[in-house]
Parts: sequence; structure tokens; C-alpha cells
Amino acid sequence: MPAERTLAMIKPDATSRNLIGKIIAHYEAEGFEVVGLKRLRLTLDDARAFYAVHAERPFYDSLTEFMSSGPICALVLQRDNAIVHLREVMGATNPEEAAEGTIRALYARSLEANSVHGSDAPETAVTEINFFFSEEELL
Ligand code: RTP
Ligand code: MG
Repeated sequence: MPAERTLAMIKPDATSRNLIGKIIAHYEAEGFEVVGLKRLRLTLDDARAFYAVHAERPFYDSLTEFMSSGPICALVLQRDNAIVHLREVMGATNPEEAAEGTIRALYARSLEANSVHGSDAPETAVTEINFFFSEEELL
């Protein structure tokens, strides 16, 4: 299977606990190549744009305030079947339902502060990669 790219974020609850290195090490051990990497703080408007798909959901205001509350790390990860494989490595959205050994089971604090994001489909991966990175930044 040819290499595929997906967009990952390490969320503010994880950057604030100095978990960037541990989480990236976990991804590299799973065969992902880090082809793009930056640490930044989203404005509230940035977070609302990124999660616009959830604009009608009851958790949208809280989620976007949380995502703009501190630094995040944005990553483009590459390997075969990257989108599906990353979601498996991340674990279920709710850490109480996340399988043992997944990132969310290991590190997430709550349903909202669940440490990591990963794109959920090929179209969203392209949109989300372009949200953070220009083509020249992906090596
Ligand atoms: P993500 O987009 O961050 O990778 O997470 P996901 O696909 O597993 O979950 P999604 O349904 O897209 O939800 C996006 C993020 O919103 C927060 N959330 N809060 N309070 C709630 O009911 C609730 N549900 C979701 C989580 O931070 C979730 O990752
Ligand atoms: Mg999602």
C-alpha cells in the first residue's frame, strides 16, 4: 500500500504535561514518519474554523475554548494506511472506552481533554494538513 499522510495534533492538555516527546515516540515506533511538525497556539477563531464541522454540537464552544487555551503541536504523519492506523493508535474519543496501550488510554484526562487529534478520512486529512502546513514545509 502506498504511503498516506494524516494530520495529528497534540492537544493543550498534553503539551502542558510535557508529553510531546512521549507521544511522538509512540507514533514513530508505530512506523509513522514525521514529515511536518510545528508547535503553536490556536486563536479561538482558528479553533472554531478547524472544528467547524462540529459547529452545531453542544460541545463546540467548550472544545474550541479548550483547544485555544494553550500550545498545541501539529504534525503530518506518513505511513501506509496512515489515517486508519493513527486512529487505532489514538484509541476511542472517550478515554474510558479507549483500548489499553492507546494514546488516549495512557494520557487522556477526559472526553474533551483527550490529548490527541487525528484526521478521520482522506478528504479531511487534506483539508487539515493544508490548515497548518504549506507543501514546502512537508519533507
Ligand atoms: P478529534 O477530532 O479531536 O481527533 O477527535 P474524534 O474524531 O475522536 O472526536 P470528534 O467526535 O471529532 O470530537 C472532536 C473532539 O471534541 C471533543 N468532544 N467533546 N463533551 C463531548 O461530548 C465531546 N465530544 C467530543 C473531544 O476533544 C473530541 O476529540
Ligand atoms: Mg474528529
